[in-house]
Amino acid sequence: MTVFIVGANGATGIHLIHQLLARDIHVKALVRPTSKLPKSILNDAKLSLITGNISEMKLLDLQQHLVDCDAVLSCLGHTLSFQGIYGQPRRLVTDAVRNLCRAIEANTPDQTVKLVLMNTTGNRNRNLVEPISLAQHCVIGLLRFLLPPHVDNEQAANFLRTEIGPTHKYIEWIAVRPDRLVDENEVTEYQLHASPTRSAIFDTGQTSRINVGHFMAELITSDKLWQQWQGQMPVIYNKHV
Ligand SMILES: NC(=O)c1ccc[n+]([C@@H]2O[C@H](COP(=O)([O-])OP(=O)(O)OC[C@H]3O[C@@H](n4cnc5c(N)ncnc54)[C@H](OP(=O)(O)O)[C@@H]3O)[C@@H](O)[C@H]2O)c1
Repeated sequence: MTVFIVGANGATGIHLIHQLLARDIHVKALVRPTSKLPKSILNDAKLSLITGNISEMKLLDLQQHLVDCDAVLSCLGHTLSFQGIYGQPRRLVTDAVRNLCRAIEANTPDQTVKLVLMNTTGNRNRNLVEPISLAQHCVIGLLRFLLPPHVDNEQAANFLRTEIGPTHKYIEWIAVRPDRLVDENEVTEYQLHASPTRSAIFDTGQTSRINVGHFMAELITSDKLWQQWQGQMPVIYNKHV
């Protein structure tokens, strides 16, 4: 199996790569020219490093990178700086997901390609009834206005939900929704839910980045798990907070 990762050098992306390499999966990792991957990963023969920027990549180049890939995984996210939050590209994740999907479609693969998007519990799955309090409605509305990355996360997941949909000819997808991200060194027990079981604003839980990487790797290697969550937006919380 060969997979393509964007956001590969991010805090979660690196965990995801370790999880994939440990499962003997060949990884094509797209990393910006100014960014790096740890030596431990670079020395692995199953890793191919691709230097470039997903926001500037031409469709034909993306097509070539994806032509032998069974899955595409995104751990992209806006850098937590003024430029990262308010500068361009404002729709980093949405545009990347759209372009990746266009490249997969243009390749007309014989088998469907799995796409897993790292998303957030701040985004609601509008295919389900996910009620939130009036106070949370107000805060989320404010975040949409004040924090462009939040809207980007919502639009990226909505693109998959509405434009790729449940029965696309070439693409199957899952949007993984972690709660507040924390760093741990070991995979620990985690819980999966179809919808948030706590408020993403007033009662946040925790999700380790390594657990997100573990779950994303499990999704693409376990047919049973994939069938369970395909076309959905599973929420992942650490079991012990
Ligand atoms: N913080 C939370 O509690 C939380 C909770 C739930 C979900 N999330 C979501 O999860 C995402 C991933 O989290 P993380 O902590 O693993 O993120 P991270 O460490 O900041 O990694 C972000 C990745 O995106 C890449 N990136 C950023 N701006 C880019 C651009 N303009 N062009 C191309 N690549 C770009 C980064 O590459 P460079 O190193 O080259 O910049 C990096 O690989 C978050 O951004 C957020 O959307 C966060």
